[in-house]
This record gives sequence, structure tokens and C-alpha cells, in this order.
Amino acid sequence: MAWRINQSPNLTKLWVAGGNAGTAAISENFDIRSNDVDGLVGKAKELKADLVVVGPEAPLAMGLADRLGRLGIPVFGPSQAAAQIEASKGFALELMQKAGVPCPDFASVRDEAGAQAYIKSHPGPLVVKADGLAAGKGVLLCNDSEQAQAAVKLCMSDHAFGEAGDTVILEEYLSGPEVSVFAFCDGENLSPLVAACDYKRLGDGNVGPNTGGMGSFSSPDFWTPKLAVQVEQTIMRPVLQAMAEQGAPYKGVLYAGLMLTDAGPKVLEFNCRLGDPETQVVMPLLASDPLELMLACAEGTLNKVQVKWDERNYVGVVMVSGGYPEEYQTGFEIDGLDADDPEDTMVFHAGTKLGNDGVAGHPLTAGGRVLTVVGGGDNMDQARERAYARLERISFEGAAWRRDIGSSANQGAARSTG
Ligand code: AMP
Ligand code: GLY
Repeated sequence: MAWRINQSPNLTKLWVAGGNAGTAAISENFDIRSNDVDGLVGKAKELKADLVVVGPEAPLAMGLADRLGRLGIPVFGPSQAAAQIEASKGFALELMQKAGVPCPDFASVRDEAGAQAYIKSHPGPLVVKADGLAAGKGVLLCNDSEQAQAAVKLCMSDHAFGEAGDTVILEEYLSGPEVSVFAFCDGENLSPLVAACDYKRLGDGNVGPNTGGMGSFSSPDFWTPKLAVQVEQTIMRPVLQAMAEQGAPYKGVLYAGLMLTDAGPKVLEFNCRLGDPETQVVMPLLASDPLELMLACAEGTLNKVQVKWDERNYVGVVMVSGGYPEEYQTGFEIDGLDADDPEDTMVFHAGTKLGNDGVAGHPLTAGGRVLTVVGGGDNMDQARERAYARLERISFEGAAWRRDIGSSANQGAARSTG
């Protein structure tokens, strides 16, 4: 997001809270954690910020946008009430039910007896979810009733997801290709939609443990204008309207995780932010001024702004530390970042930092997810070739990545559970 904002003709100065070696090259980093709402509000006030763009969900669920709003500081990101669409799965499902938005059959339960009753009346595969924010964990895919019972116990008696699992959602197990769909919203209006797919599993061919995302591509070939209209009319607009009607108008980017089932697209989850690693392949598609767009979302004037998405393909490959998503070491030098760029490639940083010798220091690994290397092209093959050509020039000790991101064998089935 910082990379794209930095290209805006309307930008005077960019600061990044937290940040890494990548944002240090284009902005001024300051060391305030994303869940330190007091610290962030204080800093925005001190800097007299014209706009605050919130990346992650936690500070939104803690009310950062509300606090900034009360100070008259425009903010891109939903209020605490509207962020419930991600922070509480039960909230999202009940909203969809009320608005007639297609979603799996479900029950929201607060005790094991309630869970048992649903499991008994729904034999076969089920999905068990902790209701609250569980940092991308807390979703348990169960092939039968026995697994579902064990999953409920894990949430409710073992408290494996803390308070997030005090309320448990039981859901119909859907199958089909998955797609992440994004709309920029101002409470009432929404932008044209844009779509991407991400890869959750660690290994080539979708095997191994789940991760925070090993790669992504935009825009999927199956994402047709017809499908976009269907998703806008049956999902995005009704949700936006329902949120406004219940006094929590949605401002910011609305992310719908969809399963394209035989009975049409159904919603698996909403997020109140852009996704990782989808952002890395969606921001390059944005052909409009990012600051004008985000400010219009904040101020409710999106109907006055033209939002355009390029018709290109991008492929993003995530380079991770050896051992991720389990234990890994950090502090290794990253080489090859300055290599001559193959055409239309970008390297986005995640867990990186500058070495001790300051701004001129060498970038070091500082997390499990280190870089996303992105290539663009007129088709997916070209985009993929460029991404991997750029990636081959980068190295750090223990670096690991998938070799099959955006390859034709798994396009459209990046995360298919079918
Ligand atoms: P969520 O955080 O709710 O998106 O769940 C994480 C992942 O679990 C999704 O990306 C799907 O792959 C899978 N999943 C979630 N809900 C369901 C469902 N009802 N049926 C099948 N798979 C699901
Ligand atoms: N890529 C999935 C997420 O950001 O939640």
C-alpha cells in the first residue's frame, strides 16, 4: 500500500508505523506497534496527518478509525462497529442471512450442548470456526462428526483460540475454487470490483501446512465481467446496504472470501482490509490515484471518483525463512535486491529490517514471511516468468518459496477444497 501511495501526485510526505527495510526506502518509519491505538492516535495528531490508512484488522477492531474520526482526521478503514464484519464471524453470517447474501448453512453456539445438537442433525463434513479474531487460525475443516466434536472441544474446553473460541460457528462444508474479491467503499458507494487468488499451503501442489500465504495472482481468468456483476449485485451491494441500515456504514476496503460452488458464489468470510499476499498483486492493477480514492472512501465522495483497474496479470511469489511456518531463524543478509530489474517486476518487503548501520544498512531478514516478488504481464505465463526471473536473483540463507505460483495447472484452484 505504501508503495502505491508513494506514486500519488498528491503525496507530500509518507510515514509508516512499524515498517520494514522496504518502507524505509520510500517513507519515514516510526516504531509504534499496530495495536498501540493510543500511540497511533497521538502520532497522527502530532504529524497533523491529512489521511491515515490502516492496513491490519486488529487496530480497526479496537476502534482506531473511530478515535481518529473524533479528532477530525480522515481515515481509510472501517469503524469498530463496521470492522465486526471480520472480527466476529457470527456477526457476518447473521448480517448475510438478514440481507439474503449467499453463505453456508450455519449455527452459532455458545456451549457444547448446542454444538452437539447441530452436529447430530448435520452428519457428514462440517467446518468449525472460532467466532473471534484468531490471527488467521481458528478454522477447522472436519470430514465427519467425530472430527467436528473434537474441534468443538478444542475451541470450547481446551480454549485453543482463547476468547475467540467462546462462541463457535458450525458451517456447511462447501467446495469449489476460491477467490478473494475487493471493493473500495465509502459507506454508500463502491468501486468496481477486483479479484485475486492466494495460496495457503506451504508446498508445491497445495500440500503441507497452512501458512499466511505463499503466493497470489490477479486477475484470475475465471473472473469474468459476468461473475463480477453477479458478485456485486448478490453480495457486495446488499452487504453495504445492510451495514448502512444497521448504523454501521462500511468505509474502507471490503474483502469477500468466496467459494465458487455449483450453486453460485458463496461467502466464506469477510475481511475489513486488503489481504496478504493479495495486496501485492492488486495494488499494481490500480490505475487511479490511490490517495484520491482512499480519501474519497473516508469522506463519502466515492461517487465523484473514477476507479480503474488495469487488465493485466500479476503473479506474486512469497519468499519465506527456512522452517516457516514453524520455527525459523532471522538476521540473514538479503542479497540481489538491487539487481537489474527484469521488466515489470517489484519486490515487496514483509519481515525485513535494515542492518545496524542505519538507512544505508544492508536489508536483513526479520520474520517468517520475508519478501513477495511480483511480476506483471499481458498474460499469466508472462507475469509468472518475470516474477520467477526476478526471484532467482535474490538470495538469503534458508530462503524457501513455491515453484508453482500462477502455473496453469493450478490457476483457479489455488485453494480449491473440492
Ligand atoms: P476463513 O478464515 O473463514 O476464510 O477460512 C479459512 C479457509 O478455510 C478458507 O479459505 C477455506 O479454504 C476454508 N473454509 C472456510 N469455511 C469453509 C466452508 N464453509 N467450507 C469449506 N471450506 C471452508
Ligand atoms: N490472504 C488472506 C488474508 O489476508 O486473510
